Amino acid sequence: MILSSGILIAFEGIDGTGKSTQCRMLSELLTKMKISNIVIAEPTKGKWGMKIRKLLLEGRKGISPEEELEWFINDRKEDVEINIQPALNAGKVVLMDRYYFSTASYQGALGFDPQKIKADNEKFAPQPDRVLIFHNPPEKSLERIESARGGRSAFEKSDYLINVQKIFKSFTGSKIRFISSNVTLEEVHEQVLFEIQDLFDGKL
Ligand code: TYD
Repeated sequence: MILSSGILIAFEGIDGTGKSTQCRMLSELLTKMKISNIVIAEPTKGKWGMKIRKLLLEGRKGISPEEELEWFINDRKEDVEINIQPALNAGKVVLMDRYYFSTASYQGALGFDPQKIKADNEKFAPQPDRVLIFHNPPEKSLERIESARGGRSAFEKSDYLINVQKIFKSFTGSKIRFISSNVTLEEVHEQVLFEIQDLFDGKL
């Protein structure tokens, strides 16, 4: 089934909250229900995304916060143009594994105003129909990161992530929903379905 207009859902939150897994679980359910959908992850694998990946691996040395912010914005501009807008135009459900609330929170935690970052993004990026913000006690996230990857990237230091999560928790509005990922995968999935039911006329 192709919807007459697309639906945009963003999965957000600090590292280690299980967003990517939940994104995949929802995508599988939609596919089973024959609802055309796509998962898009940011940072992307495009030219800006690759520069960002190098920064994640090697750390922030020599790169100013302004440049870092600019790279994430450039990556997203490319993503909107090449992937997100075309998928929405084709009537797909677009599941974003991170979107501009990540920029507002992660780069906001470097000292920029999160609300300004959000407003600047909304000048070029379509606004999501729903934003699911996953949260966890940060120690739990750090444990998951360590066991999954055996190490932390430059963005995964504990004090920094605590500040990032504070910003994530500060967003308000009817499209924003908070999901506790401190329960089983199935229970988190149920919370996800509950928070997006209305977008699918209660059919999920
Ligand atoms: P992540 O979703 O963890 O990618 P992967 O699972 O492929 O490693 O994202 C990588 C990091 O990028 C993560 O620590 C959050 C950070 N990030 C920002 O700082 N700003 C942003 O705008 C985005 C999209 C991500």
